Amino acid sequence: MIIAIDGPAAAGKGTLAERLAAHYGLPYLDTGLLYRAIGRRMADAGADLDDPAAAGAFARALAPEHLGGDLRGREAGDLASRVAVHPPVREALVAFQRAFAARPGGAVLDGRDIGTVICPDADVKLYVTASAEVRARRRTDELLAKGRAVDYDRILAEVRERDARDSGRVVAPLRPADDAVVIDTSDLDRDGAFAAACAAVDARRTRA
Ligand code: DC
Repeated sequence: MIIAIDGPAAAGKGTLAERLAAHYGLPYLDTGLLYRAIGRRMADAGADLDDPAAAGAFARALAPEHLGGDLRGREAGDLASRVAVHPPVREALVAFQRAFAARPGGAVLDGRDIGTVICPDADVKLYVTASAEVRARRRTDELLAKGRAVDYDRILAEVRERDARDSGRVVAPLRPADDAVVIDTSDLDRDGAFAAACAAVDARRTRA
């Protein structure tokens, strides 16, 4: 069984994907990490993130050992979103993601284009979203809990900027697949989102 999970930044996809993978005993690939590693490596090398050919070369050179380290932060996310607009970057990552999805028994993948481009035949497609305000509030609270000084309005502006870039790009823009089950987590906590996702997965499985 292949479970494809897409949605905007900070909607809670990662937490949900990890939990679903554990629950159904499937391996999990966080595809955002691939784009984050490319953005990070380009920035560290002083390369031009807006150059499609240069970004493509970094994408083709991506190796498993590049996926460690601190890639989860907002800065890496922003770098990722910038390199992710380039077709050569997206092309370079397709085969790896499809091979992961083709593992015996299946897999859970999360990202922006899993249900639309990478795994159009996934058994279950979830589109996990929440209002920009709710996502910015959650991110602000997370950072405050870590003792960081943050400004909600600035985080909200960042969330909106990332949404615009991810949804507005020409190649593989962020959008729900026609057959995706949309889970709006604006009024759901983590357990509520997990329950809604399991209900969607189990409904598809019963039908299959
Ligand atoms: O899911 P994330 O926040 O780690 O993703 C970081 C950025 O990478 C995201 O803003 C856009 C890009 N991305 C993408 O274009 N396609 C994916 N499948 C995953 C991430």
